[in-house]
Amino acid sequence: MEKGKENHKAHCLILPYPIQGHINPMLQFAKHLSHKGLKITLVVTKFLRKTMQEFSGSSNISLEAISDGFDEGGRADAESSEAYLALFRLVGTETLSELLEMHKTDSAVDCIIYDPFLSWGLDVAKKFGLVSAAFFTQSCAVNNIYYHVYKKELKLPLLETEKFVNIPGLPVLEPSDLPSFVYVHGSYPASFEMILNQFQNLEKADWILVNTFHKLEQEVIDWMAKFLPVKAIGPTIPSMYLDKRLQDDKDYGLSVFKPITDVCMKWLNERASTSVVYVSFGSMAELGAEQMEELAHGLKTSNKYFLWVVRSSEEAKLPKNFSEETSKKGLIVSWCPQLEVLAHEAIGCFITHCGWNSTLEALSLGVPMVAMPQWTDQSTNAKFVKNVWKMGIKTRQDEKGLVEQTEIARCINHVMEGDKGEEIRKNAKKWKEIAREAVDEEGSSDKNIENFVSSLMNPST
Ligand code: UDX
Repeated sequence: MEKGKENHKAHCLILPYPIQGHINPMLQFAKHLSHKGLKITLVVTKFLRKTMQEFSGSSNISLEAISDGFDEGGRADAESSEAYLALFRLVGTETLSELLEMHKTDSAVDCIIYDPFLSWGLDVAKKFGLVSAAFFTQSCAVNNIYYHVYKKELKLPLLETEKFVNIPGLPVLEPSDLPSFVYVHGSYPASFEMILNQFQNLEKADWILVNTFHKLEQEVIDWMAKFLPVKAIGPTIPSMYLDKRLQDDKDYGLSVFKPITDVCMKWLNERASTSVVYVSFGSMAELGAEQMEELAHGLKTSNKYFLWVVRSSEEAKLPKNFSEETSKKGLIVSWCPQLEVLAHEAIGCFITHCGWNSTLEALSLGVPMVAMPQWTDQSTNAKFVKNVWKMGIKTRQDEKGLVEQTEIARCINHVMEGDKGEEIRKNAKKWKEIAREAVDEEGSSDKNIENFVSSLMNPST
């Protein structure tokens, strides 16, 4: 490694938490960096490398694997989340260190871009004297909430009498707008601990990158920047959808599920512009059987065309014969190429769980949303979709927490037709343009990425 040399070709190792919702944005970011001339190694777990459905690389991005201690059966083999995370920390630290040692002889690594869910990635970077960059895959608003909990500035559990929560940088929130780990105190303790741990060594990170863009979260980004050097670098949507300069990275992905691409795209090609409701709850959320039934009937009642992603593990909850009965109106697939789908002109609305990637993707591709959050950060994202970005509405639940079929049909109609949805549809177009500007040359995110890249290319300056 020849530090100090002009335009040194820096080598970045990228370490995402091994789930689809974290791999996608970090891989997309890897592509941006690769286009800007960095050498990239993406690191996944051995189990994931063995089982993933799709990976096509380019000369500048290679794939390597470390161990989480469950190389044969993956996370499902762990006794509990606590056990999984503890072993991953231990074995991950060891095997990541081995990987770095191995690279010393050929192409030494200069920087680790780590997912702060794996906060030990930063400790490894420090041990090897490397540049470290935390990459937050969730919104800045959500990170700000977690940070306040970590600093004990937001005390948990919330008092039952507390009707509103005031956190600097954020609009006034109702308790149910907070991430589920905060609102439902005590739920998923291991995951919550991992989330709070993101901040435990963060002050040692050289860079703090967040998958968002400045105009989207201006107030909270500016607020956080007062005490943490956060840099917005998103949306990390593949450049071919957003950035006219780069058109060649369409087929580059890493998928845990197998997308049914041809069937979906052919079906969409046969539909009229903005006539289809796209429905997906991401890679993890599980709906109750009753909720699944209400959703199915809601789609049917709306009388709109629909493309619904029902993962194989969720399929048994579909009402009997539903796909056959609705085959003239709907297509149900186990996984789809979501970005291509959202970018298709046939899509008129997205019923979404509001995972951060899905939210950013819909925003950046100008698709109005019906927000139906399930857990983790999704309620907070839904709040912003409805009240701040005004790009969708949120479904109302009955007293049992169920979103009924009439409500689903109402929301679809609200967003897709008539005067009431006009503002939402207008805002969808507006946000698409603003997202593009952020990543376009000299855009706010592009500048932040440029600064990051040039600091690695010219380490002495
Ligand atoms: C998880 C959390 O649940 C989410 O709340 C958090 O913000 C990120 O991690 P996930 O639930 O999978 O992610 O949702 P999301 O963030 O929306 O990520 C799903 C990704 O899978 C998106 O990039 C989406 O484009 C992709 N996807 C989804 C497909 O490619 N095909 C599909 O059929 C469905």
